[in-house]
Amino acid sequence: MEKILKFPEGFLWGTATSAYQVEGGIENNDWAKDFPAGRACDHYNLYEKDFDLLKSLNQNAYRFSIEWSRIEPEEGKFDEKEIEHYKKVILALKERGVIPFLTLHHFTNPLWFAKKGGWENKKSVEYFCRFVEKIMSNFRGLVEFWMTFNEPQVLIDQGYLLGEWPPFKKNIFSAIKVFKNIKKSHQRAFEIIHKIDPDSKAGIVNTDAYFEPYQKDSVFDRVACFLVKYFSGDIFWFRGYMDFLGLNYYQHARLQFHPLKFYRIRNENKFLSDINWEIYPEGIFHVLKDLQKYNLPIFITENGLADAKDKLRKDFIKDHLFWIHRAIQEGVDVRGYFHWSLIDNFEWAKGFEPRFGLIEIDYKTLERKLRPSALYFAKICKENQLPLNPKP
Ligand code: FCB
Repeated sequence: MEKILKFPEGFLWGTATSAYQVEGGIENNDWAKDFPAGRACDHYNLYEKDFDLLKSLNQNAYRFSIEWSRIEPEEGKFDEKEIEHYKKVILALKERGVIPFLTLHHFTNPLWFAKKGGWENKKSVEYFCRFVEKIMSNFRGLVEFWMTFNEPQVLIDQGYLLGEWPPFKKNIFSAIKVFKNIKKSHQRAFEIIHKIDPDSKAGIVNTDAYFEPYQKDSVFDRVACFLVKYFSGDIFWFRGYMDFLGLNYYQHARLQFHPLKFYRIRNENKFLSDINWEIYPEGIFHVLKDLQKYNLPIFITENGLADAKDKLRKDFIKDHLFWIHRAIQEGVDVRGYFHWSLIDNFEWAKGFEPRFGLIEIDYKTLERKLRPSALYFAKICKENQLPLNPKP
């Protein structure tokens, strides 16, 4: 007999995207000069078509972001047409019975903001909160679930420590300043969201890797693991200002202490995605168990892989959902799962090459084509259950 894992009633099933990665036509932010996304998937114009597909795939929730540089192209000057545009986007989802999950900041900043020193500038908190107030007063009552920032830790690592993303810095003091300003911005935004729309819920999206010591009985490996986890755990720093947790799960790292480099990653790498990220589904179970201590509802706000040939995606989905289901059975309050991504898109500094979509994009014709895994996921979404055949 086929074994079936049932998910809780009312579980949300969806996909996630972010504005710069899919919309196209964004030229006024801090990414556009060094990493232009051109017309991307033209989701800005084709969103209704994409939402029809999403609906046909039985998804009942969609996570997306609004592009700050469209809404406030110049300091303090808001573009009402763009606000209207996003209102239409939200209504298009609601007409289709899809619950919008809105991210206010997904990595990109308006150019004017970047020119003023970006997140290093103390006034960044004020600038961001002014934007949040504008959005909230326009979208009050339309959106229930708000996320302030997507993965602050990735933004800080890539932009201020590794120097690989705008503003290309490698400076620990800048990183600390940015962290402080983002933390304050999140806290204030959380309050603004509640003040303007008391019925809404606000959270932050964290990327949590599953870290484990390479040798469980090595004190050194365990200390290295503890420290890495402590300093990379966004959620911990934002506690007290969240109605729910957003978890993006992609990575696993077995950490071995190293006297010079502090640690080395010693993964088995049995299964790798197209961009060599290790596929390690069990890790999501451990991360979820660890997040249980916050006693808050959790949404998996991203989980997916680059897999152009769609060879691994079906098993990837099945195996991750298997472990998510197990966490739920062990009492973790997981309320929804958003696969990354609905459509192929612009993968930041890696460009258009990695293919994360359930739906394939032909960037020449903009044609959308369902990958087989999209239909597999659609069946799970429809039935609210996961058939385990064969077992993971
Ligand atoms: C996450 C980002 C998302 C996407 C995926 C692959 O870290 O939030 O925008 O790039 O990785």
